[in-house]
Amino acid sequence: MFKNFGVVLPVTLFLTILFVSPSYSQGKTIKDGVFTIEQVAAGQGVYETNCKVCHDLKFYRDTWKGWIDKPLLNFYYMIVAEMPADNPGSLLDAEYTNIVANVLLEMGFPAGESNLDPNDGMDEIIIVAP
Ligand code: HEC
Repeated sequence: MFKNFGVVLPVTLFLTILFVSPSYSQGKTIKDGVFTIEQVAAGQGVYETNCKVCHDLKFYRDTWKGWIDKPLLNFYYMIVAEMPADNPGSLLDAEYTNIVANVLLEMGFPAGESNLDPNDGMDEIIIVAP
């Protein structure tokens, strides 16, 4: 009878971890108000001057699929490294950050209380479908 304990206990522990852990791994997503309306307002003009000539809103709707489940920081880094396509890296970090806030609002995600900041937790904010 007791000789089975060596197996039953680890299996029980394993199942407990399996059932409990999903509630811990649910992180923050772009639906959680991860940027402010001030950042959106600041990003609008920068977007219109530097991005709009090549990308309208439909462009993001069409390409969003490819970003789902990725950290928002990846999206930010891609834009910093490659955009505007005719002059990559030409904007300030804050301008890129505000552009991302602007795109998120345009995509239908809510503004909130906390400032979006590439140096503070943006790697833990996950991109989801609108
Ligand atoms: C001169 C034209 C041009 C400008 C200006 C430009 N882009 Fe792009 N962008 C492109 C091209 C070309 C691609 C790659 C091909 C594609 O996906 O359509 C691209 C790709 C992207 C992608 C990747 C989409 C995906 O998921 O594949 C994002 C995001 C993006 N641009 C955002 C921006 C932002 C933000 C700005 C302003 C800072 C900007 N672009 C300015 C031409 C431009």
